[in-house]
Amino acid sequence: MTAVEIAQVSKTFADGTQALSEVDLTVGDGEFVSLIGPSGCGKSTLLRLIADLIPPTTGTVTVAGKPAGQARREQAYGLAFQQAGLFEWRTVRRNVELPLELRGAGKAERQARAEEMLALVGLAEFGGHYPGQLSGGMQQRVAIARALAVQPPLLLMDEPFGALDEMTRERLQAELLSICATTGTSTVFVTHSISEAVFLSDRVVVMSARPGRITASIEVDLPSRDDAGRQSPVYFDKVTEVRKALRG
Ligand SMILES: Nc1ncnc2c1ncn2[C@@H]1O[C@H](COP(=O)(O)OP(=O)(O)OP(=O)(O)O)[C@@H](O)[C@H]1O
Ligand SMILES: [Mg+2]
Repeated sequence: MTAVEIAQVSKTFADGTQALSEVDLTVGDGEFVSLIGPSGCGKSTLLRLIADLIPPTTGTVTVAGKPAGQARREQAYGLAFQQAGLFEWRTVRRNVELPLELRGAGKAERQARAEEMLALVGLAEFGGHYPGQLSGGMQQRVAIARALAVQPPLLLMDEPFGALDEMTRERLQAELLSICATTGTSTVFVTHSISEAVFLSDRVVVMSARPGRITASIEVDLPSRDDAGRQSPVYFDKVTEVRKALRG
């Protein structure tokens, strides 16, 4: 089965802005796909369409074999977006518990899971804080913990590491890869960083400036996804290939 199937999708907003034009994209089960392209080319729009937060103007979006709307209602995916999107009136812990609450998980399970996820993103001591009391990067880490809390089969991530320092970013990249490998999670990951895209992905999808179209799809097969992988010739070749594709 395929995790995501986007067929001939175009999106024109009410104000007439054409964000996407005839996009076809298939994400296989367990595949890690990055979207990269110039600012305003429609990457976030594409993720929103997959998440069924907005409808396509034409074309169809299928998630795990179901229409996107049904997949959303069944919580078939976890979301971590550009803006952390936390609820200001809920503590950090209760933000992470939210998707578990929506699933009807019991209190003990919710709390244990939230603690585990907060520890993973290095925020074990901040469960009782409110989002307004955290830095931007810390808020992003809470959003990542929340996205991972229900171990969804599909992760949709929009520049989730954008506001993080380099060391934290590398640690969370490694964590994300290990979570995806152990759980078989499929991922659609938006980033502006060529090196991040190449390091994380099975495939890097390159988009053109607005209206966004897919202009290249580059398979990446690193010998390993660790420091040795980052220094391998394949890694540098792929970085060059993606850079060339971005230049068009
Ligand atoms: N709700 C909306 N109404 C009108 N236009 C919109 C709306 N949302 C996005 N757009 C437009 O659609 C285009 C694509 O926006 P989108 O946010 O998908 O870009 P992006 O590739 O994620 O950019 P960035 O890398 O800067 O995050 C832009 O021209 C933007 O102005
Ligand atoms: Mg965006």
